[in-house]
Amino acid sequence: MELNLPDEAATVRLGAALADSLPDLRGASLLLALQGDLGTGKTTLARGLLRALGVEGAIRSPTFTLVEPYETRAGTIHHLDLYRLQGAQAELDAIGYRDYRGMPGLVIVEWPERGAAALGVADLSITIEHQALGRRLCIEAATDAGQAWQGALRYERI
Ligand SMILES: Nc1ncnc2c1ncn2[C@@H]1O[C@H](COP(=O)(O)OP(=O)(O)OP(=O)(O)O)[C@@H](O)[C@H]1O
Ligand SMILES: [Mg+2]
Repeated sequence: MELNLPDEAATVRLGAALADSLPDLRGASLLLALQGDLGTGKTTLARGLLRALGVEGAIRSPTFTLVEPYETRAGTIHHLDLYRLQGAQAELDAIGYRDYRGMPGLVIVEWPERGAAALGVADLSITIEHQALGRRLCIEAATDAGQAWQGALRYERI
C-alpha cells in the first residue's frame, strides 16, 4: 500500500490512524519497523501514534537513549532508534529487547536495518522516502497480525 503525505500534519494523522487500527495487544507482541533516510519523519509518525493512544507530555526521539518506554491506552509500547547500533544481538539485549518482545505490547523501531537479524520479522514495515513535496510511504505486512493491522487502517487521503 502506498501513500503520499504532503506535510508533517499528514504524517501525524497517519500515526493516529495506525493507533486506531492497532490489533489488541493483550497476549501479543507486535513489531512495527519504520525505515527511511535521516529526517524522513519516522519519529513524527511514532509520535502521532503515541499521542493518539493518550501519551501526554514530551515524546522524545530515542536517538540517545535508544529506547523510550510508554504506558498507553492500548498497552505497553517501546520506541527504539537503532541508528547507532552495529547489528549484534548483544546490543539489543543491552537495551532489553528480548525482555519486551517476550511480553505483550508494541515495539516501534526506527532504523531496523541496524538491528539486523537479531530484531526478527516486523509485523508491519513502513518505508518513508523524501519527495519534492512531502513524503511517499510504502506500508507492507509480513504476518497475520500485520495484515489485520493494515487491513483495518483507515486513512483519509487529502
Ligand atoms: N509528510 C511530511 N512532509 C514534510 N515534512 C515532514 C513530513 N513528515 C515529517 N516531516 C518533517 O520531517 C522532519 C524530520 O522528522 P523526524 O525527526 O520525524 O524524522 P526521522 O525520520 O525520525 O529522522 P531520524 O532518522 O534522524 O530519526 C521534521 O521536520 C518533520 O516535521
Ligand atoms: Mg527519528
